[in-house]
Amino acid sequence: MLVLGIETSCDETGVAIYDSERGLLAHTLYSQVKLHAEYGGVVPELASRDHVRKILPLLDDVFTQAGVNKKQLDGIAYTAGPGLLGALMVGGSMATAFGFALDIPVIGVHHMEAHLLAPMLEEKPPEFPFVALLVSGGHTQLVSVAAIGEYELLGESLDDAAGEAFDKTAKMLDLDYPGGPVLAAMADQGEIDRFSFPRPMTDRPGLDFSFSGLKTHTRNLIEKHRGESLLPDDLTVRDICAGFQEAVVDTLVIKCRRAMRQTELKRLVIAGGVSANTRLRYKLEVALEKEGVEVFYARHEFCTDNGAMVAFAGCQRLLAGERNPLLISATPRWPLDQLSSINSVS
Ligand code: KG4
Ligand code: ZN
Repeated sequence: MLVLGIETSCDETGVAIYDSERGLLAHTLYSQVKLHAEYGGVVPELASRDHVRKILPLLDDVFTQAGVNKKQLDGIAYTAGPGLLGALMVGGSMATAFGFALDIPVIGVHHMEAHLLAPMLEEKPPEFPFVALLVSGGHTQLVSVAAIGEYELLGESLDDAAGEAFDKTAKMLDLDYPGGPVLAAMADQGEIDRFSFPRPMTDRPGLDFSFSGLKTHTRNLIEKHRGESLLPDDLTVRDICAGFQEAVVDTLVIKCRRAMRQTELKRLVIAGGVSANTRLRYKLEVALEKEGVEVFYARHEFCTDNGAMVAFAGCQRLLAGERNPLLISATPRWPLDQLSSINSVS
């Protein structure tokens, strides 16, 4: 089955063509980072307009790269939520128009399900069941995954998502937008132990997270070390980044280990933008190897938003016989555990 995937939930326009027999044939991505940089965050209206501008040239590109004609497609998948309403509408309209014109099925995909399944695009895909740590700009969740669509929420952030905490802390330190990867790069050059940071909520039972306190902790450190200027010196900024990253990573590792023990599962999948963080990957692997747990993640470019994960997730649901009516669906808020199992699709 040949499926076109379209991702427009936030500030990345991603398109891809996935074949259930041959695997991923092509994918392209346009990032709006520069457009939003001067505002220090995503401006929803600008994001929608830029998706409109970029989506057709990207589609032309992906068909050429894949050596595929539109008429060969068997189905179309697009991100239907969660995300920014206007941005979602662009991908949804495009997919629905294509489906109507080509008379093929169209399916609205859950963005976090697509992230969660992205490691299955890799050479050694994880088998079910597994625990998934979803860490993106909007979500921090631990989920027990029995099969596609069979999700049980084990714990989640009560306030900021891990990616959001990275981005907000980066902003406080006046680092370039988007802050997460920039802060991570600075952290790798800093000293982990110079400043002590809390590991929030690790001293009480349960699998929920809270990251907003780390921001306050960082703000106080900045205040204490900035002297006469607006920010501390470069070296101190790097050390703050290192201490902050280590605190987020340790907190995630502690909760993942707890989730693995609780569920007695032996596979952990990490997905979403923050799963690109090399320190997180390294510390999870070291900590969980001792417990006989294998850690799976996607290549860097498929950790952050992309069309390949949407094409793959949509393909799995289309193969199971799932069909949506030919209506544009856009659901800005959409809990993952409301999805149906592909085994229950009639
Ligand atoms: O999954 P994603 O591309 O978009 C959402 O669905 O939210 O995740 C984006 C988030 C941002 O908060 C970004 O700062 C963070 O992932 N991120 C990182 C790294 N790369 C991206 N955070 C920490 N370290 C990284 N290397
Ligand atoms: Zn995402």
